[in-house]
Amino acid sequence: MRLRIIGSAAGGGFPQWNCNYRLSRAARTGVAGVHSRTQSSVAASADGLGWVLFNASPDIPQQIAATPELQPAHDAPLRSTPIRAVVLTNADVDHVAGLLSLRERQPFAIYATTQVLATLKANSIFNVLDPALVPRRILPPAQELSICDAGGHDTGVAVESFPVPGKIALYLEERGQPDANFSSDAGDTIGVRIAGAGSRGSGFYIPGCARIDATLRTRLADAACLLFDGTVFTDDEMIAAGVGQKTGARMGHLAMSGNAGSIAGLADVRIGRRVFVHINNTNPVLDENSAEHAAVEAAGWEVACDGMEIEL
Ligand code: MLT
Ligand code: MN
Repeated sequence: MRLRIIGSAAGGGFPQWNCNYRLSRAARTGVAGVHSRTQSSVAASADGLGWVLFNASPDIPQQIAATPELQPAHDAPLRSTPIRAVVLTNADVDHVAGLLSLRERQPFAIYATTQVLATLKANSIFNVLDPALVPRRILPPAQELSICDAGGHDTGVAVESFPVPGKIALYLEERGQPDANFSSDAGDTIGVRIAGAGSRGSGFYIPGCARIDATLRTRLADAACLLFDGTVFTDDEMIAAGVGQKTGARMGHLAMSGNAGSIAGLADVRIGRRVFVHINNTNPVLDENSAEHAAVEAAGWEVACDGMEIEL
């Protein structure tokens, strides 16, 4: 099983189009050790031919252009794609907007929770994906499911989903839950365990998570690999940077650092490879020469770059 991180940045990407913070400026001007990143998405393949995407980011055309494995094979029909299915971990813009770029009457399957499927249904723009060609299938919690293409053929990638503490998408907040619990585990955000044909161990993909609790720690024990929410290094980072008013917690994202952070919270859990993904453009770890990047690596974590490959 191959996992390829095709987009390692959080919503907005890196550099973000309208951001003039020092990190986005450094990425734009090509400072050594500061690499541009596209928005949050991972591709998985059991056979190297068919691929399952985990989230469809607004940057998906760029991600396909950068990844030959996701392009039509040279001997394939005039219209074709190796992308067999898309699994969604929530309804955030950075995770669903790329579906709109996958129109053009191309069959593939969408898998998501009932909540996320309801959000797609309520937004008629997603009807550009004709359900007759692009079936929408429920991802039930707590059972391993074989991910199949539009025609029902098994891709060899299997997924078990589970709710993680998090929140509904930003654009649903006012309408839905003005006083929401931004670390609720109601299933608005999920994590996935990815396994399947020939894989030696399980990989976990959790791009959004507000809290590490005992259930999650138990679940992650002995994982071969964890791709985890690396949105912010410190909870008040966006406020300190002067770019926003929200804490990481208010956005449903646990900080890397601190006693309650992800590094400390998972320090004693046996995990083969731990990699931060969904990295916000304010996170100092984006600069490979920063003290924060060194601290993360010293704690046994990797900071994902676009194109990073993991073999399971
Ligand atoms: C998030 O991860 O918090 C969202 O992607 C934010 C957003 O919608 O821009
Ligand atoms: Mn996001």
